[in-house]
Amino acid sequence: MEEHTEIFDIEIPRRGTGSIKWDLHAELQPYWIADMDTPSPECILKALHERVEHGIFGYSYPPADMFDVLTRYMHDRHHADIRPEWCVPMTGCVPALSLVARTWCKPGDAVMTCSPVYPPIRSVHRDAGCDLIEVPHVWDDGAWQFDWEALEKAWQPAARLFVLCNPQNPLGRVWTEEEVTRLAEFCERHEMILCSDEIHCDLVLDEQSEHFTCMRLPDRLRRRCITLTAPSKTYNIAGLGFTFACIPDDTMRDTFRRTIGCTLPEINCFAYVAARAAYMEGEPWRQRLIRHLRRNRDLVYSYVAEHMPAITMHPMQATYLAWMDCSALGVEDPQGYFMEKAGVFLNSGAPFGCPQHVRFNFGTTRERLLKGLEAMARAIG
Ligand SMILES: Cc1ncc(COP(=O)(O)O)c(C=O)c1O
Repeated sequence: MEEHTEIFDIEIPRRGTGSIKWDLHAELQPYWIADMDTPSPECILKALHERVEHGIFGYSYPPADMFDVLTRYMHDRHHADIRPEWCVPMTGCVPALSLVARTWCKPGDAVMTCSPVYPPIRSVHRDAGCDLIEVPHVWDDGAWQFDWEALEKAWQPAARLFVLCNPQNPLGRVWTEEEVTRLAEFCERHEMILCSDEIHCDLVLDEQSEHFTCMRLPDRLRRRCITLTAPSKTYNIAGLGFTFACIPDDTMRDTFRRTIGCTLPEINCFAYVAARAAYMEGEPWRQRLIRHLRRNRDLVYSYVAEHMPAITMHPMQATYLAWMDCSALGVEDPQGYFMEKAGVFLNSGAPFGCPQHVRFNFGTTRERLLKGLEAMARAIG
């Protein structure tokens, strides 16, 4: 075992810890919801321990340098020049998506997106009492793509907001600068706000791919963008609740803050402390994590190709979530099939928009990963 992957291969029992992933179906092996079976890096644990030691956990301001830390991180890692005052800290990306929809859409309007996609993106329009315009991504030329013609055809004047998922969950695609710019121009031409959910931006596995954040778009385009990002997926701190919305346009930001009003709880002191530590000191650990996830992803590819040819997987560039097309299995409900026959719990593709798919979380130890794949292969026979 290589030294750099060792910590990611140590099994830590999570059953009975109140983990949604492990305790929802305690009789099954969990490979679903997007959290990893990996402890957070030492820098985060140390910062949290120090905060606990203080013993008083009242309402919290962000640490004085929080927004400087965020902007420096965005500059150093993502080459984006943003200002601290553009950042609106929030308790989660999903509430942020909902509040964005509620800010800019009213009944009769529509939210646009491309699918398959993370289920809340397909449902936040309901919070705003408006409609959804959904355009499928297409597999073409060896990659998932936007169907530009279909997007133009599907657009209606009622569309006020486009929600992008970049890197894409569940397709694992990292959209290029050219694609993000073209999408932003599409939104500009049709006077739509562009909300980009970039929660997986630090989980790019391909060495050849680079995340291009909407925060890097030219001013003309980014002034109609809201970019959501967080350290939660990468550093496995989703349970702490921290996201930030980057909104460069002053008027848009004021409008958004008014919608937030009293809807959200204060961000808790641990969330700030963990996010700050992740952005300031987490990079060496992140690099090791990426190597571990890359190995796991390659194992999933090769195992599926060799032992489960009835499952189709396309190459993915980011995230620890593998998207598996089970159409050739000929079963009505692939998630239910693997629950019953393999004892594994996967995400059903149905809420993502593709009932014949399942989503497999490989953010775990190599041993557990193999155990899950073997159980699935045995079930298929
Ligand atoms: C694309 C995407 N957005 C948002 C979330 C959840 O964000 P939060 O826990 O901050 O609400 C997830 C979780 O898997 C996700 O994949």
